[in-house]
Amino acid sequence: MATNVQLLKFLFLLLFFSSLWTPHAQQVPDTLKPGDMLTSSSRLVSSEGRFTLTFTSSSLFESNCTFLVISSTSGPSKTYLWISGANDSNVLGLENKAGALIIMGQAGNLMTLYSSTQPTNNTVATLLDSGNFIFQEVYSNGSTKRVLWQSFDNPGNTLVPGMKLGINHKTGQTWSLRSWLTRDLPIPGPFSLEWEGSQLVIRRRQVVYWKSGVLRENQFENISPNLTSMYHFNIVSNDDEESFSFDSENQIQPSQWTLTDMGRLHEGQKSMARTDECYGYNIDGGCQKWNLSVCRQPGYTVELNRSYLVNGDASYTIPDPNLGMIDCKANCSASCSCVAYTTLLGNWTGCRFWTTISNFTPTDMENSDQVYILSPKPSQTETGKFTSSLRML
Ligand SMILES: *[C@@H]1O[C@H](CO)[C@@H](O)[C@H](O)[C@H]1NC(C)=O
Ligand SMILES: *[C@@H]1O[C@H](CO)[C@@H](O)[C@H](O)[C@H]1NC(C)=O
Ligand SMILES: *[C@@H]1O[C@H](CO)[C@@H](O)[C@H](O)[C@H]1NC(C)=O
Ligand SMILES: *[C@@H]1O[C@H](CO)[C@@H](O)[C@H](O)[C@H]1NC(C)=O
Ligand SMILES: *[C@@H]1O[C@H](CO)[C@@H](O)[C@H](O)[C@H]1NC(C)=O
Ligand SMILES: *[C@@H]1O[C@H](CO)[C@@H](O)[C@H](O)[C@H]1NC(C)=O
Ligand SMILES: *[C@@H]1O[C@H](CO)[C@@H](O)[C@H](O)[C@H]1NC(C)=O
Ligand SMILES: *[C@@H]1O[C@H](CO)[C@@H](O)[C@H](O)[C@H]1NC(C)=O
Ligand SMILES: *[C@@H]1O[C@H](CO)[C@@H](O)[C@H](O)[C@H]1NC(C)=O
Repeated sequence: MATNVQLLKFLFLLLFFSSLWTPHAQQVPDTLKPGDMLTSSSRLVSSEGRFTLTFTSSSLFESNCTFLVISSTSGPSKTYLWISGANDSNVLGLENKAGALIIMGQAGNLMTLYSSTQPTNNTVATLLDSGNFIFQEVYSNGSTKRVLWQSFDNPGNTLVPGMKLGINHKTGQTWSLRSWLTRDLPIPGPFSLEWEGSQLVIRRRQVVYWKSGVLRENQFENISPNLTSMYHFNIVSNDDEESFSFDSENQIQPSQWTLTDMGRLHEGQKSMARTDECYGYNIDGGCQKWNLSVCRQPGYTVELNRSYLVNGDASYTIPDPNLGMIDCKANCSASCSCVAYTTLLGNWTGCRFWTTISNFTPTDMENSDQVYILSPKPSQTETGKFTSSLRML
C-alpha cells in the first residue's frame, strides 16, 4: 500500500509540475521566422503585450473581407494601427518565405508586402512594442543587417510615437495618414493628413480643408495648447528628410492621433482639428477657404436632422461605393439644386440627394433616415431653425 501512495504522490507532483510548464510552452511569439506562416487563426503579440498582429474578418468591418491588422491591446478601446489592403475573404495566412512577406489566399498570393530580389533565408518579421511590424534581414548572430519593410512606412488612419509624417528625399518615401471610408470600413477614405511646408495639412480629395499653422515653442497656431502640452514634437528638416513625429509622456499607454472618416483629427475623445466645421468660406480653428459653388452664400451650414422619415425616392443618386458621407456633402454643396443628402448603400457608401424636402415627414422613429440638410446663413434674429427658408436654396 505504502508504495502505491508514494506512486500516487509522485504522479500528482508530476502533473503539478507539467501544468506549471504549459503556459510557457504556449507563449505567443512576436516573430515570424523564415518558413513560418501566421495562419488566419493565430497571432503575433509584441514582447510586452502592447500590440497584436492578427487576421480579422467581416463582423467588425462591414464587409466580408479578411484584413491583417495591428491593434493595440491596452487602452480603453481597441484601436487599429495598421490594416493591410488585402480584401479577400479566403485568407490562409501570412508567410515569411525566401525573403518575401506574402499574404496567401486559397488561390495563391493575395498581397506581397515585400519581396527581395535575391531569395534568402536570413529574414525575420517582428512585431515591436512600438506597434511597428518590421521585416528585416539579419546576420547569423541575429542582429539587424537591413530593414526591408515596416508597417510604420505604410500608415493607416492612426499616428503613434515613432511614426512619421513627411517625406524621405533620398528614397522618395512619403508618410501620411488616410482616413477610413466610413466609421466601419477600413478602406482608403476621403481625408489625408500630411506634413507640408512645416505644417500639418488635412485635405479632402486634394482640396485643402485645414492647416495647423506653424509650430512655435512646441505649440501649433491652430491647435489648442491644452491638447498638445504633453507632447514633444520632433521636426526634421534637412537634405535627406522633412518630417514630423511626436513623443508622448505616457510610455505605457502612448497617445494615438486618429484621422476620422469625417475629417477630424482626434486624440482620444478630443478634437485637434474640426475639419467637419470647415465650409470653404470660414477660417475658424485653421479652416481654409476654397472656391464655393456660385449658388452657395458664405454662411451656409449643414445640419443633421434624425427626425425625418423620407418618403419615396431621392431626387438623384450616385451609387459609387467609393464615396463616403463627406463626399456626398461636398457634392451636394457644390450642386445648386441640392438641399439634402445622405448615403445610399447599406454600408454607408454611395450618395442620395434631394432637391426638395417636401417628402420628408417628421417622425420620432428610431431607425428613420439620418438626412443632412443644407441651411442658409442664419439671420441676426434667428438662432438656427431655417426650415421655412430652405426652398430659397
Ligand atoms: C458596400 O456595399 C456595396 C453595395 O452592397 C458593395 O458593392 C461594396 O463592395 C461594399 N463595400 C465594401 C468595402 O464592402
Ligand atoms: C457577406 O456575405 C453574405 C453571405 O454570403 C451576404 O449575404 C452579404 O450580403 C455579404 N455582405 C457584404 C457586405 O458583402
Ligand atoms: C479587392 O482589391 C482589388 C484591387 O485593389 C479590387 O480590384 C477588388 O475589386 C477588391 N475586391 C473587393 C471584394 O473589394
Ligand atoms: C532556405 O531553407 C530551406 C530549408 O532549410 C532550404 O530548402 C532552401 O534552399 C533555403 N533557401 C535559400 C535561398 O537559402
Ligand atoms: C553580428 O554580426 C555582424 C556581422 O558579422 C557584426 O557586425 C555584429 O557586430 C554582430 N553583432 C553582435 C551583437 O555580435
Ligand atoms: C485650457 O485649459 C485651461 C485650464 O484648465 C482652461 O481654463 C481653458 O479654458 C482651456 N482652453 C481651451 C481652449 O480648452
Ligand atoms: C478658384 O477659382 C479661381 C477662378 O476660377 C481660380 O483661379 C483659382 O485657382 C481657384 N482656386 C482654387 C483653390 O481652386
Ligand atoms: C458629384 O459627383 C459626380 C460623380 O462622382 C460628379 O460627376 C459630379 O461632378 C459631382 N458634382 C459636383 C458638383 O461636384
Ligand atoms: C428637425 O426636424 C424637426 C421636425 O420637423 C424640426 O422641428 C427641427 O427644427 C429640425 N431640426 C433641425 C436642426 O433642422
